[in-house]
Amino acid sequence: MTLSLSETTMTADPAAVFARLRAEQGHVAWVELEPGVGAWLVMGHAEVLALVRREHLYSRDARNWRLLQDGTVPPDSPLGPMMFFRDNVIGYDGAAHGRLRRPLDAAVDAIDQRRMRRSVARICDLLIGDFAVRGRADLVADYAVIVPMLAIADLFGLDTMRGHELLVAMQALFGSAEDAQEGNRRFEELLGAAMEGRRREPADDLTTALLHHPELRGDSEVLQSMVVMVSAGYHTTISWIAQSLRLMLVDPRFAARVRGGRLGVDEALDEVLWRDPPMCNMPARYALRDTELGGRAIRRGDALILGLAAAGHDPRVHGGDPGAEPGNRSHLAWSAGPHACPGRVPARLIARTAVETVLNRLPGVALALPAAQIPLTPSPWTRCPAALPVTFPTPDRISGGNP
Ligand code: HEM
Repeated sequence: MTLSLSETTMTADPAAVFARLRAEQGHVAWVELEPGVGAWLVMGHAEVLALVRREHLYSRDARNWRLLQDGTVPPDSPLGPMMFFRDNVIGYDGAAHGRLRRPLDAAVDAIDQRRMRRSVARICDLLIGDFAVRGRADLVADYAVIVPMLAIADLFGLDTMRGHELLVAMQALFGSAEDAQEGNRRFEELLGAAMEGRRREPADDLTTALLHHPELRGDSEVLQSMVVMVSAGYHTTISWIAQSLRLMLVDPRFAARVRGGRLGVDEALDEVLWRDPPMCNMPARYALRDTELGGRAIRRGDALILGLAAAGHDPRVHGGDPGAEPGNRSHLAWSAGPHACPGRVPARLIARTAVETVLNRLPGVALALPAAQIPLTPSPWTRCPAALPVTFPTPDRISGGNP
């Protein structure tokens, strides 16, 4: 029976699932995205690199997907939000992609990292201040879900109140409930207002940088560039923070240091990028002609999923445990090739500051449930803790100020 893609993310032991799939099918495996909708899961490190670097063979443009063209995948498919064509940097190949991509890279290059670190630290401090006296919190709902959006909003020049509004709109948009359309409208309205504001009053932020980039044609392309950066950075950074906190709380190699207030934050962050990257399975590339990958015959129009988590477990790139190689950053969590993530510098800065602030502000933080019971948010693409309930000594108990 064909494995469903969700079985690679929702399992307690992804490494075992990848090992079994590799033994059965090799480094490129046929899986189901939905009942009756098959795709290739590219699991080999070298094969993922070959996939993302050969634009002439594998397009990012979902309009090349045969199952979409022949109606097997309907226009209202739940796969749509992640897989269908987007009229922005994500949807194009070659020169058209390059023209939309250069403004993003230039904007990210111009970020003042010291200023950004200070403002992310302030966001984290304020959030922790809200729950520090309670002695308990859910580090996903009360923290990891909020920090990235406020930090990214700040990069675009939106204040904390607008950042919270953006978060509410984004949650509605991704919730796929009745208010999804309204969430989408509000999301674009908030970013549109920020764009108008910066046209009148330029500032040192990403909105201004995009507005002034000569390659973006008109307001619509500026707005869509803002939309894609905010949405691409949101879930991914939540997942990175949540998985890193989880690892530091449950793994004895880190847990002792957490309790002792000593940090191993960068090691934990890197280990997560190997083992549980924020995009475990990244959609997708579409074959432009019949070809071959990892010994499998690929047909024109087939969809190929980037198995970024599977590639992190490829036995050909590790002697053994991928977590036991500190400093090795040759994982594919950011992908590679022309579409590789442009947001890695701000993402690391947000995630590192978020994790460090928890450790500094909440010494003695401990999980409030057994590690095996940490729930996961259901998704075929990511593997993110849905909650991280923790307890910690309250400030009066830390200072000993309370008789
Ligand atoms: C932990 C955090 C993040 C991870 C793991 C991550 C990972 C990725 C991956 C795997 C891709 C797809 C590459 C491909 O299709 O080959 C991507 C694309 C992208 N990411 Fe990130 N990302 C993160 C955070 C961010 C942030 C903070 C931003 C923006 C501020 C961002 C902006 C983008 C954009 C705009 C693209 C599309 C690029 C293109 O198609 O050329 N990402 N990211």
